[in-house]
Amino acid sequence: MSSGVVEAQQVLARAREVVASCTGFRDTAISPTAVDRVVRAELARGRSPSELLAELQRPGAPLARALLDAVLVGETYFFRHPEQFRFLAYEAVPAALSRGTLTLRGWSAGCASGEETYSIAACLLNMAPPGVRVEVLGSDLHEGRLEAARRGVYGNWSRREAGPLLHPLYQEVGEGRVSILDPVRAVVRFVQGNLLEPLHEMYGLFDVIFCRNVLTYFSPDAVQMALGHLAKALVPGGFLLLGTVEVDHPPAGLVRVGAPELQSFRRPLPREQTPPPAPKPVPVAREPEPYRAAASLRATTPPPPPAPTAVGLHTEALQRIESGDESGAATLLEKLLQQFRDYLPGMLELALLRERAGAREAAFALMHTVRDNAARLPPDLIIEGPEPLPARFYRASADAFLTLGAIE
Ligand SMILES: C[S@@+](CC[C@H](N)C(=O)[O-])C[C@H]1O[C@@H](n2cnc3c(N)ncnc32)[C@H](O)[C@@H]1O
Repeated sequence: MSSGVVEAQQVLARAREVVASCTGFRDTAISPTAVDRVVRAELARGRSPSELLAELQRPGAPLARALLDAVLVGETYFFRHPEQFRFLAYEAVPAALSRGTLTLRGWSAGCASGEETYSIAACLLNMAPPGVRVEVLGSDLHEGRLEAARRGVYGNWSRREAGPLLHPLYQEVGEGRVSILDPVRAVVRFVQGNLLEPLHEMYGLFDVIFCRNVLTYFSPDAVQMALGHLAKALVPGGFLLLGTVEVDHPPAGLVRVGAPELQSFRRPLPREQTPPPAPKPVPVAREPEPYRAAASLRATTPPPPPAPTAVGLHTEALQRIESGDESGAATLLEKLLQQFRDYLPGMLELALLRERAGAREAAFALMHTVRDNAARLPPDLIIEGPEPLPARFYRASADAFLTLGAIE
């Protein structure tokens, strides 16, 4: 083998290492033809292998950027994996509102040309009740794609049948192209960022993060590193949604929510993380002699179980949902509602479960009841539930659900 060929192979090998360390990609996910094309183009311009090797020592040099641009896959389209956008609308948004958030914040991590970022923004805007603001960040390593994202003009390839238009998002501008609606653009911001590094803290924490079809290219170590950064950027109670086959265990510090294929994970609230303190032993007062026998009798008879409360049953249903048993949760909620007919949090929960199970008519009927019952209550009346929430929250959630149904 000639020395020129050996040197060219050294450049190719070094180029792959540079790509792997910059992106987190495992070697088998780096396209050999893409790397080969970039390196050969440089050699064809008369540059020597040693010159290229020297340039590859400098991270951020033009050659390294050309390699990244060539290997990063930017496949994306609006409302990709629509079931995750339904989860966003009907689970993540109500959960954030229940925490009293006044700004719904989303992050599309690895956003490519921005279709996912704008889809998140359109969904949040459509679901946000009056007075609640929306902010969405899109980040990617590929600067060229971010420029396209900021332009916000797209062709047919971004609008595929697999991604139904779930929320108002764009307008036609001729020649098969669409432009993102101004209110959606206004709440979106794009920045360059590498998922191997933590997002700068000036961007704050997020109610929901989508990182889909990105980690699938990463090495196992890089997956863990990126997941750690993503989990830290969630508000307690916030959700991380990953691509369909990206992890088989919940990321550290998060719990799985819903069916495994939903790939949705939640950062628990602080009070869910710490087990309640063990009850302090109650000092037993010495009873006078005649009562001792009766007391020992009492001790052998177990106390009757406490009567189930609506909130207790609802919490049990939530635990079932979290463990993936949605039909068990629905049965429990039905029983709950037979006993506590006016319990709004249970009605809302059951309606959302019905919608997810495809029983749309039943979901709508229940949502109408939620809306009508909530409308009869003083808007600021706090309704006891797993989260105490004002009646206006139930009305706004039901309104949003029913309005969205009319749009679809
Ligand atoms: C296939 S696209 C996914 C787009 C969108 N999330 C979706 O699911 O439709 C993957 C994107 O991840 C970006 N990416 C890959 N490695 C990255 C990294 N280490 N940091 C940030 N973005 C990265 C790529 O540039 C590419 O735009």
